[in-house]
Amino acid sequence: MNLQLVSNHKIENSQTDNFHSDIVEGLKSTPKKLHSKYFYDKAGDRLFQQIMAMPEYYLTNCELDIFKNKTQEITDAITFDDSPFDLIELGAGDAMKSSFLLKNLTDNQIDFTYMPIDISGNILSVLNEKLNNEIPELEIVSLEGEYFDMLDKATSISNRRKVVLFLGGNIGNMDMEESYHFCNELRRKLNRGDILLVGFDLKKNPHTILNAYNDAAGITSSFNLNLLVRMNRELEADFDVLNYQHYQTYDPVSGACKSYLISLAEQNVHIGNEVFHFEENEVIDMEISQKFSKKNIRNMANNSGFHILNEISDSKNWFVDSIWQVV
Ligand SMILES: C[S@@+](CC[C@H](N)C(=O)[O-])C[C@H]1O[C@@H](n2cnc3c(N)ncnc32)[C@H](O)[C@@H]1O
Repeated sequence: MNLQLVSNHKIENSQTDNFHSDIVEGLKSTPKKLHSKYFYDKAGDRLFQQIMAMPEYYLTNCELDIFKNKTQEITDAITFDDSPFDLIELGAGDAMKSSFLLKNLTDNQIDFTYMPIDISGNILSVLNEKLNNEIPELEIVSLEGEYFDMLDKATSISNRRKVVLFLGGNIGNMDMEESYHFCNELRRKLNRGDILLVGFDLKKNPHTILNAYNDAAGITSSFNLNLLVRMNRELEADFDVLNYQHYQTYDPVSGACKSYLISLAEQNVHIGNEVFHFEENEVIDMEISQKFSKKNIRNMANNSGFHILNEISDSKNWFVDSIWQVV
């Protein structure tokens, strides 16, 4: 891994480019699959900000309700021993929700450094500009790259205790098995006493969930199709984007909400020398947005070496920010 200090406050991993090999591997698998972490180029970042502002996408308002109205409760849980810490946010995006916590911590003159990690350098620039304006006294070290590569980097540059935020739907973008594995890996990288705050979208009326990902304006559809546009531009692929259609499902039993793209015709797509054949109506598995029960959350914490300190819900009880400590 080749890491470089780009400015005083921004560190990037210049070898993040597994894009080509991951895409080729995904298109060779059955069913065809693309990893949703590649959704976030500049256009994808903008589309995701539009998704967060959609009336159907209740997740943003639920977690905003928690971060705006229960800020002190979160602050108390993460500042229990008064020692300085690094506040590391995995997949920070534009820090829309965490900025309320950052403001409260700074107003209370708490000694911490904010370390947002994101695979999208573009959204980290948006975040830096926004936070420099809103909270000029905040110390920020931005880490551009994959979650665990950048967490290792954060640990190598500072040995202060860690408080890790993993908000929004991020943990839901893994299936249950992957999220268990992820929490175990995270636990191994943290020390006893460190804290993890994870946002979980709870199971609720299936119509409410499906509508959030099947919006009338078609923004989620554009968000999915944008990955084909990105592949055409960055990998010189030749997807005919009009020949694919977004399709969303939700299974209220397993809690898996899944996005697919359907090939509307039998067609071939080229990426470099490789040819990928699509049958008419063949699907590409694009993204999972897993929904959880409170029991799922407790099991996940206990089975990955954490103890639950607090569970903070929004006023509708649709979403929970669960605060865990390494035991
Ligand atoms: C669904 S958005 C959520 C943003 C923010 N957590 C929120 O709740 O508003 C996911 C963010 O995580 C980033 N991301 C996705 N996969 C990642 C990975 N493997 N490593 C680092 N960042 C990732 C994306 O670039 C994007 O900004």
